[in-house]
Amino acid sequence: MVIKLSAGAIAVSVCLSLAFFAGHGQPVLADGGGGKKHDVADTVKKEVAMSIKKNPRIGAALVRLLFHDCWVHGCDGSVLLDKAPDGGSTEKDATNNIGLEGFDLIDRIKGKLGESVSCADIVVLAARDATFILSRGNIAYDVTTGRKDGVRSSAAAADAVLPPSTFNFTQLKANFAGRNFTQTELVVLSGAHAVGVAHLSSFRDRLDNATATPISARYQRALAEHVEEQKGVQGTPDPTEPNNIRDMELAFRNASGHNASGVDTSRAARGVLDNSYYHANLQNKVLFRSDWELRNDTTGAAGRDMRVC
Ligand code: HEM
Repeated sequence: MVIKLSAGAIAVSVCLSLAFFAGHGQPVLADGGGGKKHDVADTVKKEVAMSIKKNPRIGAALVRLLFHDCWVHGCDGSVLLDKAPDGGSTEKDATNNIGLEGFDLIDRIKGKLGESVSCADIVVLAARDATFILSRGNIAYDVTTGRKDGVRSSAAAADAVLPPSTFNFTQLKANFAGRNFTQTELVVLSGAHAVGVAHLSSFRDRLDNATATPISARYQRALAEHVEEQKGVQGTPDPTEPNNIRDMELAFRNASGHNASGVDTSRAARGVLDNSYYHANLQNKVLFRSDWELRNDTTGAAGRDMRVC
């Protein structure tokens, strides 16, 4: 079956996928202390909207936080833990959790809602609301609540199951199958890379001609130059770049030979969760090997899934 990856298709698939993450029982009102009752869904929605308004970066961070929490022994909020029971390193220290953000916001919401709502539920609700806002209302889905917070956390456990950006197609497919996700869901959920940023260390392999998986030569050249510039601008040897070429300046897109037909490249569209990632991927202009690998399927099914309407 050929899936047309419109925003609607993403919505349906994300909903299906999140059914996996669902729990039971929904406390509608939470006692946040001081005798004040808070509507749970409403509080999370308002806090997320306010945070994204102040700092648009936080939306993408919340979407990734959900993935990284749920992938490691289920959606149990364990990604938020600062201490492991055995005093060892936690999920936050995992190599594959580089750049994870959004913790302060989850803490703040938890502070408002109190003990009757788990952190695990707040992560799920916050990612849902961020997705809705980033997609301009195109991706909307219901979630149930009632999850319990976990106490186990280990960097090794997280690195053992979270996929690194260097995975090939077979490894990605097996990784997702291990969590009962199909190949189509792998392609659809990878569409989240339409938003957010990545560190150079997560895509350095793509700049090395000896080891790079297919990447547009013009895009590769522009990216290598941009990264060098950003080392100075950001004052770090491991600067970040936007995941989506759509979010780069016009000069960069021109230098890369980006074909933007069908993609909204206006300033207002920056950071919008839409299907522009697939446009870029079909031009070999994506950051990660794992993105490009979705085209490297001998049956051709994943590549077909990516063709946009
Ligand atoms: C298919 C396997 C995947 C791999 C290998 C992968 C890998 C990565 C890597 C390496 C980064 C950049 C981290 C950094 O350097 O800071 C990243 C960012 C991101 N990923 Fe994925 N990812 C995958 C799937 C997903 C899924 C399923 C989602 C959510 C549905 C997702 C959402 C995001 C988002 C939103 C960002 C940007 C985060 C931010 O800006 O804070 N990714 N991913």
